[in-house]
Amino acid sequence: MAVDLLLGLQWGDEGKGKIVDVLTKNYDIIARFQGGPNAGHTLEFDGIKHVLHTIPSGIFHENAVNLVGNGVVIDPVIFKKELDNLSKFEGDFTKKLLISRKAHLILPTHRLLDAASEASKGKAKIGSTLKGIGPTYMDKTGRNGIRVGDLEMKNWSEKYRALANKHEAMIDFYDVDMQYDLAELEADFFEAVEVLKSLQFIDSEEYLHQAQRSNKTILAEGAQGSLLDIDFGTYPFVTSSNTTAAGACTGLGVAPGKIKEVFGIFKAYTTRVGSGPFPTELFDSYGETMGRVGNEFGATTGRPRRCGWLDLVALKYAVQVNGVTQLMMMKGDVLSGFDKLKVCTAYKYKGEIIEHLPYNIEAENVTPIYTEMKGWKEDLTKMTDVSQLPEALNNYIGYLEKELEVPIKIVSVGPDRTQTIHR
Ligand code: IMP
Repeated sequence: MAVDLLLGLQWGDEGKGKIVDVLTKNYDIIARFQGGPNAGHTLEFDGIKHVLHTIPSGIFHENAVNLVGNGVVIDPVIFKKELDNLSKFEGDFTKKLLISRKAHLILPTHRLLDAASEASKGKAKIGSTLKGIGPTYMDKTGRNGIRVGDLEMKNWSEKYRALANKHEAMIDFYDVDMQYDLAELEADFFEAVEVLKSLQFIDSEEYLHQAQRSNKTILAEGAQGSLLDIDFGTYPFVTSSNTTAAGACTGLGVAPGKIKEVFGIFKAYTTRVGSGPFPTELFDSYGETMGRVGNEFGATTGRPRRCGWLDLVALKYAVQVNGVTQLMMMKGDVLSGFDKLKVCTAYKYKGEIIEHLPYNIEAENVTPIYTEMKGWKEDLTKMTDVSQLPEALNNYIGYLEKELEVPIKIVSVGPDRTQTIHR
């Protein structure tokens, strides 16, 4: 049985959580494959808003198993908070939550290192969520990390101490002014580790292999977006994992040939939180309206998101790198009332017009070239059927489909599960 993938195509915050929640009824297993609590996946139904950071977005459906894959990094403290939040709702969520033994742990000192590294960079800082993501993946690739499976070993606390001591020396090396009480952070950490240990740890690649053999349906859930990919994103202003399709193979142990549909999620405009280049960023009333109406604040950090027009050059790149087979357009409702819409179709780059994403998209090298389109006035949020969509929106969608050469199968018209139009 094939595995489907669901990925964000921009700089994250496209609305992946909502779509996973909508699609979960079609799947037996939802498997998160990379990132960590830097993500904030927002789901809304029955008038309640839920924000998940590490737990897959299929958790609210009775029948789906939710798996945290080996490519994910887990902070036990945040994980425990997520579980505490879930305990307010009916049902035992822990029964359908499985954790890969090969997932790496975020230690309190990873978070401190993240903060020290950012502070040392001054103006050049990445704008990290400060959840310890970079330092944890560095320890993973440096072959120093502590994995979930280590918690089952007797000597894990010795391993922990050795790594934490090393981190403390590294924090001193940064020579930045940082106050912290490690003993207090560790008390929370060890308490949360005990909670984590009450969950089921599994050899997840074997579990997924057997699931495929017995014809189970699997949806792999990504976090962040393609332009934050460690290889293909706007480096160094990226996260530390492969957010693109290949990340699902390494983050779950799924073979490339087993992947069938690749669902690409994008917003009808563009946002970015944190530092880094953003060619179509707006500093005018259009950008301000997108931010206000779209409630564009980071679900993890609360930071305001930068807003801008849709960038087709970047979106085409993401479609190509991921091999997207179906697109899903989010937040079209936020653009209702705009007299005009602009879509960036090419860049002026070093005096030339180019239609591909170049190595460097810093503002001094790249000027976006736009196509202007008519906006729509209608409120989309109550619409339930494709026949109700205004003509100008249909033109916008049609134009994007033609340019991207991939069908747009879902148009989301609001944050709630029910505000989803299938085409
Ligand atoms: P880190 O992954 O926390 O180190 O952050 C690196 C960059 O990725 C920063 O610009 C963050 O704002 C951005 N980032 C990380 N996770 C997310 C996310 O889930 N949504 C949007 N941006 C993110």
